[in-house]
Amino acid sequence: MTDTDRLLPARPVRSLDEHLAAGGGAGLARALELDPDQVIELVDAAGLRGRGGAGFPTARKWRGVLANAVAAEVAPTLVANGAEGEPGTYKDRVLLEQQPYAFLEGVCIAMYATGAATAHIATKAKFTGPVAALTDAFQQVQAAGWPGADRIEVTLGPDAYLFGEETGMLRVIEGALPLPQVTRPFEEGLFATTLAPNPTVVNNVETFSHVARIVAEGPDWFREAGTEASPGTMLFSVVGDVESPGTYELAMGTPLRTLLEDIAGARDVKVVAPGVSSGVITPGMLDTPLDFDAMRKAGTGLGSGGFVVYDSSRSIVDVLAVLLRFLAVESCGQCNPCKLGNIEMYEVLAKIQRGEATRTDLERMLLRSHTVTDQNRCYLPIGSQALVGSTVEAFVDEFVATVEAGEPTPADLPVPLIDHIDEATGRVTFHERYHLKRSDWSYADQDPGEQRLAALRGEGPA
Ligand SMILES: Cc1cc2nc3c(=O)[nH]c(=O)nc-3n(C[C@H](O)[C@H](O)[C@H](O)COP(=O)(O)O)c2cc1C
Ligand code: SF4
Repeated sequence: MTDTDRLLPARPVRSLDEHLAAGGGAGLARALELDPDQVIELVDAAGLRGRGGAGFPTARKWRGVLANAVAAEVAPTLVANGAEGEPGTYKDRVLLEQQPYAFLEGVCIAMYATGAATAHIATKAKFTGPVAALTDAFQQVQAAGWPGADRIEVTLGPDAYLFGEETGMLRVIEGALPLPQVTRPFEEGLFATTLAPNPTVVNNVETFSHVARIVAEGPDWFREAGTEASPGTMLFSVVGDVESPGTYELAMGTPLRTLLEDIAGARDVKVVAPGVSSGVITPGMLDTPLDFDAMRKAGTGLGSGGFVVYDSSRSIVDVLAVLLRFLAVESCGQCNPCKLGNIEMYEVLAKIQRGEATRTDLERMLLRSHTVTDQNRCYLPIGSQALVGSTVEAFVDEFVATVEAGEPTPADLPVPLIDHIDEATGRVTFHERYHLKRSDWSYADQDPGEQRLAALRGEGPA
């Protein structure tokens, strides 16, 4: 164990006894000795920021929901987001599979701190290994009588990107499709009605997983790793053109170059996608610290810590096309500029890939990137805008040269949606059927009606 091995255990924790023997349970015990307010104060002093993408301060979120709940005279609700749908990200599944007890302890502490009446853990039905480990751990902590555990429910949802978007997730828990809403969960939460807005805390699985040790060991311990504004450690996943793809735990503030080159073995980096929600990273940005604010200042984002590396053998058109096709498919279509704009931009890229595009097509794509966010209910098209704008800006000469050459590109990249990373061999399996997914979320080789029904039932497409 090193100072940064805080979340990832040396080997999977398979029973509550193992967790307790390794010092687990101390956070929950300590929390119950304190007032709920004091627990939130510890999380605040630690400076914990959400690991689901935006880096929002966790204690501030809890206090905000609590205040809204008090005003509405209801108890808050809690949701743990284990949908993990960002391309390049593979860490919540690792936590659920290898250390579900620390995660569940964090959820129970958060329930106590916020006074939540119920908590919901939502993850994908297709994550069978993590779901099995979570279910086993959940039964053990329930049997052990952990406070709150009898008021937690698990929802298994569909294989859709918007299932991870917090308002889309609430809809799935309610039994509907993951269609994002304008009002945020802290205003109108789970099963909200006009009379009962049910303010809801949504936090990422990794965020909850940090909580127990913060409460057990104190904010100063947590701050021994990381930076002033982004304290602690974070899980980072790296895939693509690297020698050692995997999930790594590092102190925040570690230079991105250390993760990509020294640890994952990236060579000859051309461009890196930090998921599909922020601008791309070019070689000149590799010394940026892995810290929410530094990454934003550099013109990109830390996102959920997943990085997809492309080396100089890749066509930039292929890189942008595969990422944008994902966003075009996953957009739900409630807002026309998002669905149609993403499809149109992808179609331009596909035309360039076939060697059939003109400069006017390229200009059309750039124009569309400015309007794709119009009337947006959620942040998905903000990701498209950042992706297209940053990639074309950094590689404009290659885009123009490819269009002018009029030759097909290799078009050989899989969508980097990770199904599995084998820790022993480092072999990465990407979603094998994604190329068959169409923009109405059906699969080309499957009856669309059956597909939707399966998604609604939480069975998830194959
Ligand atoms: C399109 C989209 C997809 C998202 N997918 C995920 C996801 O898979 N997992 C996740 O934790 N957060 C995801 N988020 C962020 C959540 O909406 C939410 O901000 C997060 O769960 C809050 O947790 P945190 O405060 O602990 O970071 C997504 C956001 C958007 C806009
Ligand atoms: S912005 Fe796009 S993904 Fe989000 S709700 Fe609207 S159409 Fe759906």
